[in-house]
Amino acid sequence: MELPRLQFAHIKSRVPIIQGGMGVGISLSGLAAAVANAGGIGTISGTGISIEELRMHIRKAREKSKERMGYIGVNILFAVKDFAEKMQAALEEKVDFIISGAGISRDMYAWGREHNTPVISIVSSAKVARLSEKLGAAALVVEGFEAGGHLGTDRSLFDILPEVIEAVKIPVIAAGGIMTGEDIARALKLGASGVQIGTHFVASHECDAPLAFKEMYVKAQQGDTILVKTTVGLHGRAIKNSLTDHISNETTKLHIEKCYSCLKICSHRFCTMDVLMKSLAGDVENGLVFAGSRVHEIKEIRSVQQIIDTLMEEYQEAR
Ligand SMILES: Cc1cc2nc3c(=O)[nH]c(=O)nc-3n(C[C@H](O)[C@H](O)[C@H](O)COP(=O)(O)O)c2cc1C
Repeated sequence: MELPRLQFAHIKSRVPIIQGGMGVGISLSGLAAAVANAGGIGTISGTGISIEELRMHIRKAREKSKERMGYIGVNILFAVKDFAEKMQAALEEKVDFIISGAGISRDMYAWGREHNTPVISIVSSAKVARLSEKLGAAALVVEGFEAGGHLGTDRSLFDILPEVIEAVKIPVIAAGGIMTGEDIARALKLGASGVQIGTHFVASHECDAPLAFKEMYVKAQQGDTILVKTTVGLHGRAIKNSLTDHISNETTKLHIEKCYSCLKICSHRFCTMDVLMKSLAGDVENGLVFAGSRVHEIKEIRSVQQIIDTLMEEYQEAR
């Protein structure tokens, strides 16, 4: 049976799945290329790496996915100081698309248009969805509060999704807590053009995260995620550990060990980049381990191809 494709601008993937960009260092060329080769759309996160590293990962991912002609894009957080420089570098490298969350600007869509590169916005409400469409977004990712990483809402994906689909004409991609093919079928039935998945892909051999990070996902039990307010000014969903115990009491005074001076606006209560770097170095007790609310459903680390095959088999059964 024909699988539905995810289509926007020039992109037409073999399976309706885009891999969510995951900073810091979690989705680089390894994961993005593996997803592209398995028929999905791969995303390199530009957050927490230098512009040179970003260029290198784009080239590497493209090289690895050349044979199967997979699609590779870049996710850049609007909240970082070097957003404009990173976006320009990604455009110069001719990525297939740019995706951005935590804010929007008129400029980013105009730059995309100049380079004929589609720009996707991550939204969590019909209001921002309408504005993004008006400014020139090629598609939207609507993210519910089940998602791992920084969140823009306290509402569930399946509450917001119909409102966003109703509000715009451009393709809408559902994100947050997509763990099974049944979830994909549900989102597509509501009118979504595809889904964006982060958490499930972290537990893959190809994911760029260290083994300790992936093992924390496999060990997680129901209720093990918590919302913590980071210095970006947003809540982020992470797995509970010593760090989250320490920072979740917002009245506790904290000491900044290191400041990367990376955000346009930062509360300076602690350094978000530093704690993300710690988990990337394998210190999953004192570092921040972002993960989605359904992380406990992951039982093993598999290949990206196996994850996608299972999702698509489940999707076919659910239809
Ligand atoms: C470890 C981790 C890091 C993430 N980092 C980012 C990020 O830097 N920028 C971003 O836009 N989204 C980020 N996300 C969100 C994902 O791109 C995606 O939308 C989300 O994971 C989807 O929900 P799920 O985790 O339930 O699959 C992150 C998610 C995870 C799990």
